[in-house]
Amino acid sequence: MSQPVLPAKLDLARTPTPFHALDTLSARLGGPRLWVKRDDLTECASTGNKIRKLEYTLARARESGCDTLITSGGLQSNHCRATALLGARLGFKVHLLLRDEGNFDEVPDGNLMLDYLAGAEISIYPKSRFFTEHAELLEHWRRHYIDEGRTPWVIPVGASDGHGVWGYVGCARELADDFARARIAPEVLFHATGSGGTQAGLTAGARLYNLPCRVVGMAVCDNEAYFQKKVRSDLRHWQSRYDPDVDVESLTIEVNDHYIGPGYGVATEEIFETIRLVAETEGLVLDPVYSAKAFHGIIGEIRAGRLARGKDVVFVHTGGIFGLMAQRDNLGITRPSREL
Ligand SMILES: Cc1ncc(COP(=O)(O)O)c(C=O)c1O
Repeated sequence: MSQPVLPAKLDLARTPTPFHALDTLSARLGGPRLWVKRDDLTECASTGNKIRKLEYTLARARESGCDTLITSGGLQSNHCRATALLGARLGFKVHLLLRDEGNFDEVPDGNLMLDYLAGAEISIYPKSRFFTEHAELLEHWRRHYIDEGRTPWVIPVGASDGHGVWGYVGCARELADDFARARIAPEVLFHATGSGGTQAGLTAGARLYNLPCRVVGMAVCDNEAYFQKKVRSDLRHWQSRYDPDVDVESLTIEVNDHYIGPGYGVATEEIFETIRLVAETEGLVLDPVYSAKAFHGIIGEIRAGRLARGKDVVFVHTGGIFGLMAQRDNLGITRPSREL
């Protein structure tokens, strides 16, 4: 039998992340016992799920002798912010190609503010051009840096490809220990899915480490068919490159696309209600683009009677707090009057 190829990895994230029950919220919702895996605590400003994937992606970039990272995403991309900060930490030049979703403010806020703070080069494109010319724009900048005598490295959206899969395989290994310590065998594990890499890693990792639960990605942008294809493709890439001890064709990829709402990055009042509820009951901060949509989906499934009382259900909190800062106006928080 051939030996699996082990990937290079940098040690950047604060792991294992905490795992704990959300008992006040569970009682309030009257459904299963909810647990949270705190991947919103993987670091400080470079926190969230991207850092687990970037530990592998940046190790490869470093090994290859590259000096410049190019990546892309939405204007408030958590992935781009994590790349900007980790790139600065590791001595890379970072160039971000960002998609203006109509949320372009004169004063950069949230993730975009941190991108600038980390010294990243930033190019902002209108949404339509970003999508129609995405590959050409990346290639344009890659060539530009080669012409300047640099060695660029292009990171895919969300660092989601066969290499990034390892990040959430590692999280699944931690979850196996978390479940053993808590003496639980959860029925389902939910997480937000956006570029598919977290789902690919958790799905493969659940098989590798015998997790008892289904892994369900709550879509925040594209539909189920898109994610089936994307996650399967990342898993095939992972298998062909590393030959892990998993038959990826036999893995079930479960996606729920009923809670996207009006579209990527657009949250309705009920999402902000979920953010307020979770913050008020558990002191846990969700974001309106990813984690709150996924959590709102869990609440929806409880209300629909599809998650039973007496069972354990896990939510992987993938971070995103800075995206909330950029949408602070939608929280309905008014300035208090000052005491005289
Ligand atoms: C906070 C947050 N949660 C979840 C996701 C989804 O992860 P993935 O892109 O691996 O599907 C992302 C990024 O897309 C994210 O920034």
